[in-house]
Amino acid sequence: MKVLVTGGLGYIGSHTVVELQLAGYDVVIIDNLSNSSTKVLDGITKITGTTPDFQELDLRHQDRVREFFKHHQNIDGIVHFAASKAVGESVEKPLFYYENNVNTLVYVLQELQKLKQQNFIFSSSCTVYGEADMLPVNEDSAVKPAQSPYGNTKQIGEEILKDTCKINPDLKTVALRYFNPIGAHASSNIGELPLGVPQNLVPYITQTAIGLREQLSVFGEDYPTEDGTCIRDYIHVVDVAKAHVVALERLIKKEQGSNFEVFNIGTGKGSSVLEVITSFERVSGQKLNYKIVDRRKGDVVAAFADTSKANSILRWKAEYTLDDAMSDAWKWEQRLRTK
Ligand code: NAD
Ligand code: UFG
Repeated sequence: MKVLVTGGLGYIGSHTVVELQLAGYDVVIIDNLSNSSTKVLDGITKITGTTPDFQELDLRHQDRVREFFKHHQNIDGIVHFAASKAVGESVEKPLFYYENNVNTLVYVLQELQKLKQQNFIFSSSCTVYGEADMLPVNEDSAVKPAQSPYGNTKQIGEEILKDTCKINPDLKTVALRYFNPIGAHASSNIGELPLGVPQNLVPYITQTAIGLREQLSVFGEDYPTEDGTCIRDYIHVVDVAKAHVVALERLIKKEQGSNFEVFNIGTGKGSSVLEVITSFERVSGQKLNYKIVDRRKGDVVAAFADTSKANSILRWKAEYTLDDAMSDAWKWEQRLRTK
């Protein structure tokens, strides 16, 4: 069985390629290297013993997408990660985000609909829930107006899938709403590679601990939570990767109920920023240099998942703990800096 993974050299994509290969799939990756490097292929090969087929291609070029599919008619499923993901940048460059996240999705779906097997997995995000009315959030919780062009591209992406599925019963799609993926592969052969100053908590923590950043700023200590810091559902990236394999298997085996389904991919457990720092200190044996600063604009107070739908229907459950993920993130950071 052949699977196309767009954005397969990126953070979540590379971990998913590994899990797909370990499950016996032949993988072909499309990536334009805008946020990744071909070195990731070596990391994948070290883990699985197999180098996936790699095509350097920018999905914004519709003619090239068409050309690719002309030569790859035997694809049994597509996992579509390729997108840009920086919330702040999306506010500065909205048209780039709509082009890179929405146009590319349309181009891939247009070609997918010409194939015999039309199985498709879309990377969505818990950002669609915004500040939820009730916690944990389940898949029926309201989708709130997006706070950024990036968030909007995820909502629009889901709508595009839903509308296309209505008129094409052969198209089988799943949107996975990830919560906060963190950590790295336990082998430290692949992991997160943030460009420039990290915007996300965990790479900022590990880069501070390794000495690349002076101090972590904790954004706000006056939120209505137990310790005053925001709460998120941090999930090990390998657990996220495995969710794609089971979701795809279900599509390929034609076990899907409706042809557009949505699943929360989280642990079900919320952790505060200070709890994440404590976890890091516990697994690394290091004290982290941090200070409390003002709130960051646009942060929701708390978001964590009701995962019962994925648990029961996909028979998938996150296996790793926050400590596991922080330990793997730290090992990965150390490996990166000693290479
Ligand atoms: P990433 O940036 O590490 O990976 C995305 C990959 O897509 C990169 O390798 C990049 O080079 C590639 N790419 C981007 N535009 C492309 C294009 N036009 N053509 C071909 N390749 C292109 O990001 P990630 O963290 O692995 O995220 C993967 C997906 O999951 C994205 O759609 C993202 O929006 C979504 N998501 C991520 C998170 C998170 O916290 N990491 C949370 C929710 C959803
Ligand atoms: N935080 C800090 N200091 C930092 C970075 C983050 O205190 O230097 C805090 C944030 O305020 C937040 C928590 O750590 O409370 C997590 O922040 P992240 O930036 O790691 O993650 P977010 O939940 O803000 O954002 C993530 C993805 C987005 C996605 C969003 C959906 O990065 O792409 O989840 O909620 F849109």
